[in-house]
Parts: sequence; C-alpha cells; structure tokens
Amino acid sequence: MRTNFAGFFLAAGMGLIVLLLGLGALSMAGLVSFVPSVNQALAVEDSLAVPRCGNIDMPAMSSVSYVPTTAQEKEGEALFKSNCYQCHDVNEKVVGPALGGITKRRNISWLIPWIRNSAKVVASGDEYAIKLFNDNGKQQMPSFQGLSEKEIISIIKYVEAIEGQRAVAYPTTVAVD
Ligand code: HEC
Repeated sequence: MRTNFAGFFLAAGMGLIVLLLGLGALSMAGLVSFVPSVNQALAVEDSLAVPRCGNIDMPAMSSVSYVPTTAQEKEGEALFKSNCYQCHDVNEKVVGPALGGITKRRNISWLIPWIRNSAKVVASGDEYAIKLFNDNGKQQMPSFQGLSEKEIISIIKYVEAIEGQRAVAYPTTVAVD
C-alpha cells in the first residue's frame, strides 16, 4: 500500500514536470502565451487615444499645443506669441537660443533688464551677455522697453509651464519590439 502511494506521487510528480517542460517549450516556440501580447496591449492603448508612434521618438512639439491654465500663463502666452515666438522656441534654437531651462541659467533680475534692453546688458560688460551675443552671430535681440516686470515674469512662467507640460505629455517612446 505504502509503495503504491509513493509510486503514485512519483508518477504524478513526473507527469507535472513533463507538462511544465512541454508548456515551456511551446511558449518558447511562441505557440502558447502567458502574457497578453504586445499587440493586444497596443490595441487597448489605441482605444484610449493615447498619443503613440511606435518605436519612433516624438519630434519636438510646437509650443502651440500647450493650453495655459492660470491667468498669468494666459497673459504670458499672448505676450510670448506676439513678441518672442518668431525668434524663440522652448526646445530648439530658432533665431535666438531655445528658452527651455532659462530660469536655471539666469535669474529673473538678469532676465528683466535683458529682455527690456539686451544691448545695454551687453554694453555693461556682463560676461554671460557678451558670450551669448557673440555665440549668436552678434545679432541683437530687439528691446522690449514697453513690457512691465509683471508681463516679463508672465512670459517666463509660461515658458516654464511649457517645459513641464512637454515632459509629461510627450515622454520619449520606449521601443516595444
Ligand atoms: C528678432 C529675434 C528675437 C526676438 C523677437 C526675441 N529674441 Fe530673445 N534673443 C534673440 C537672440 C538673437 C538672442 C541671443 C542673444 C543675442 O544675440 O543678443 C536672444 C536671447 C534671449 C535670451 C537669453 C537666452 C539664453 O539662453 O541665455 C532670452 C531670455 C530671450 N532672448 C528672451 C526673449 C523674450 C522673452 C522675447 C520676447 C519678449 C524675445 N527674446 C524676443 C532674438 C530674439
């Protein structure tokens, strides 16, 4: 009786091992799948209308896609588009440098006089300004004497908001295949 029991468990154990090995082989051959396929996952993603473009990294998006949320950002957007947009983007150099991360490079007490009259800052001997001017083919940025401190701060806040928005909305796509 005892040997029969032992024999039974041995046989059952062997059977289980054979079954697992078989399943393993099938899954390696791609016939049986334990995880939902990538295509199924992508179909769900499509149905949720998540922006996606396969393995291709998204190109830098135009700042136009950002919808400002606060009154300050709205003011900043309007001023940016009417005064700065033709020469500046957030991620790419246009005529002037990309403005993304500007508050990490320069503080607001430098930015206000610069935007109001960049030539004056260059003439004052400011090293950063001189280098910036030389690196951009000595092309002088127009002066915006009419912009108040508050308006300039709104523009800077808008630029910062676009940076954040892009980081969330357009992550670098990871290859799935
Ligand atoms: C006609 C083109 C033009 C316009 C319009 C313009 N800029 Fe510029 N901007 C430049 C150039 C060129 C530079 C590089 C510095 C230089 O050559 O004097 C620059 C530099 C800057 C910098 C310094 C960037 C850095 O990396 O340190 C800031 C900040 C800036 N601009 C903000 C603005 C803002 C804000 C506006 C709108 C109110 C504006 N600019 C409008 C051409 C322009």
